[in-house]
Amino acid sequence: MKKQNDNALASSVLVIGLGLIGSSFALALKRASADRLIIGYDRQRATMKEAKALGVVDYCQPSLPEAVAQADVIFLSVPMLGMEPVFEQLAQCDLSGKVITDAGSCKGALVSAARSVFGEVPDNLVPGHPIAGSEQSGVKAGRADLFFAHHVILTPLRQTNPQAVTLVQQLWESCGAHVNFMGVDHHDQVLALTSHLPHFIAFSLMDSLVGDKESHDVFRYAAGGFRDFTRIAGSNPVMWHDVAISNKAAVLTSLDMFSAGLAELRSAIENSNSQTLLETFERARKGREHFASLLTRKHAMAGKKDELAVLVTRPGGVLAGEVRVPGDKSISHRAVMLGALAQGTTVVDGFLEGEDALATLAAFKALGVDIQGPEQGRVTIKGVGMRGLKKPEGSLYLGNAGTAMRLMAGLMAPQAFDVTLTGDESLSNRPMGRVTQPLADMGAMIATEDKGTPPLRITGGQSLKGIHYNLPMASAQVQSCLLLAGMYARGQTSVTTPGIVRDHTQRMLRGFGYQVDVDGQVVSLHGGGTLKATAIDVPADVSSAAFFMVAASIAEGSDITLTHVGINPTRAGVVDILRLMGADITLSDERLVGGEPVADIRVKSAPLKGIDIPHELVPVAIDEFPALLVAAACAEGKTVLTGAKELRVKESDRIQAMADGLRILGVDAEPLPDGMIVNGGNPIGGGTVDSFGDHRIAMAFAVAGLRATGGVRILDAENIGTSFPGFVALAAQVGMRIAEEG
Ligand code: S3P
Repeated sequence: MKKQNDNALASSVLVIGLGLIGSSFALALKRASADRLIIGYDRQRATMKEAKALGVVDYCQPSLPEAVAQADVIFLSVPMLGMEPVFEQLAQCDLSGKVITDAGSCKGALVSAARSVFGEVPDNLVPGHPIAGSEQSGVKAGRADLFFAHHVILTPLRQTNPQAVTLVQQLWESCGAHVNFMGVDHHDQVLALTSHLPHFIAFSLMDSLVGDKESHDVFRYAAGGFRDFTRIAGSNPVMWHDVAISNKAAVLTSLDMFSAGLAELRSAIENSNSQTLLETFERARKGREHFASLLTRKHAMAGKKDELAVLVTRPGGVLAGEVRVPGDKSISHRAVMLGALAQGTTVVDGFLEGEDALATLAAFKALGVDIQGPEQGRVTIKGVGMRGLKKPEGSLYLGNAGTAMRLMAGLMAPQAFDVTLTGDESLSNRPMGRVTQPLADMGAMIATEDKGTPPLRITGGQSLKGIHYNLPMASAQVQSCLLLAGMYARGQTSVTTPGIVRDHTQRMLRGFGYQVDVDGQVVSLHGGGTLKATAIDVPADVSSAAFFMVAASIAEGSDITLTHVGINPTRAGVVDILRLMGADITLSDERLVGGEPVADIRVKSAPLKGIDIPHELVPVAIDEFPALLVAAACAEGKTVLTGAKELRVKESDRIQAMADGLRILGVDAEPLPDGMIVNGGNPIGGGTVDSFGDHRIAMAFAVAGLRATGGVRILDAENIGTSFPGFVALAAQVGMRIAEEG
């Protein structure tokens, strides 16, 4: 299936029903692409007039058939029981080549309505449901940011046209929403519990109190709890009437479940059953605390999203100057881990003050390690020795940091205490079976979610034994995890990797005086050793420098020097690949700093050509492909990347994320299961792309902006701070035309 440029496909969108959701969708789409025509239709003429006056739509068309004829995409945002009558009107129109989607809360009823009108659910109908709203209603309540950072659930059927699904997905993503997919029934069951039930309880409670003769006093003395609990009883009655009828079966099941719980509570109160009461309240309180912590995190992120989420670039820009990018992420994580377990005080300079490395630092503080800093890149760690860590108070939250979680799994598994490792939404979806399975072979006890994803619940007190493990994928994180666990295991632990992976763990272990043997692709050590504190100088991160290497290569007239960059041969594949493409890169002052090779890198712009990327360079440039694919888009001819399946399980699915974004910018990019084909050299257009919260995708598209003919807006870019704090300022300083939106 070829994904289309959404601007080209959906040049006109008809919004039927101009209430809160319809008007918010119209405003959000307009903000994403000012060229797109938004046509409005509503049963109420006054609403259409108001929508036009408020600038929610470009114009309203009082004749539905005419409105349909003028639209590429038809969006239904009417109450559930209004869907079928709209379908009846649509059935009279020529719908060929058009995509229909909706925002109804009940997908089963929507599908039944379509079936009863059209005979079969049309393949161009993509059922959808934005999980966003407010107790306010009407066209005036519309907000362009209503869906930003909210989930939208799409429930396509087997016959639904994949191109239509992709288009609807892209439209929602251009509004800043996260799109998820679910089956129709599953959606209705989940929503009955999480949305419909609380609304009905709030309506019912409010109604009981209104009818109560004491209600005057109730309202006069009502406090915050009452206000919070009943807020959603202010929602639109027609909409909720329709939801009740449309999702009857699932709603009844949820009401029965609630009634049974309430009856139990009633009887516990009647019988003064303190145990049941306390147990019930305690369970509920714990559940609520868990939910609240998720919510707080989401709000903190959302707050940041407002500040930093959207980046905008203007066309043009030339890079010049000499800069040092922040410290290496992989080395910073490892420095904290080994420093914490060493005997004596380790001083780390050049530490990456990015969120990922700071998450590792916070985790070791929570494990009882005295860590000072970072202060201007310096971190001082008072090591506690191999057995000196203490049980943390709660679980260890590692944010977006996959390296922290996988390496710490190896270090936590042999500790005497239980510990739980958690992460953000992206990390919570990343595969952990690759570490928990071999760790289990060593004797560790770690529980994951069903899909092998975090949280990792580690049961302490296990004694580990060394294993010989053949890694199925080229992963330094898994290799490092097992070596770190191996320090605590009986006998020898050895790990064989199917390709070259970054070797910072081996180098640093040796720096801390721990013997590690390397024989080709096999790395081994014996358990029972100790670490001696040392000084660490973290080089600038070659993965961060890569964005400027590509930027300077593609922006004509550029000449930039990146200083003190780590060029460890297991990391510097990006230099080789860019040189194969014709880049003008010179390394100078090559030196060894604390066991790691470092150099200054000068990059001058040069015409690039497409290449077949050699397989052996893939693992040693694995984090640099978002940037390299932008280089490929600017290179004359075809670039073929294969053997890079691992990109699918990084902070985002980087193959899909890059292909989607490049296509939105008009680049001919074809995703493959394990890579991509890019036919480069044609002009790149402007547009809005989603970084899916992945720092490297966001920075790659910032670089693409240098060669785009229009502005590029990059959504969900707040995670850049995980690896490259200060990216926007530094990029602007060297000549890129980039800013945070607003
Ligand atoms: C890392 C290893 C790589 C890399 C990641 C950092 C490390 O991951 O992509 O950014 O520090 O060990 P894999 O081991 O999953 O390839």
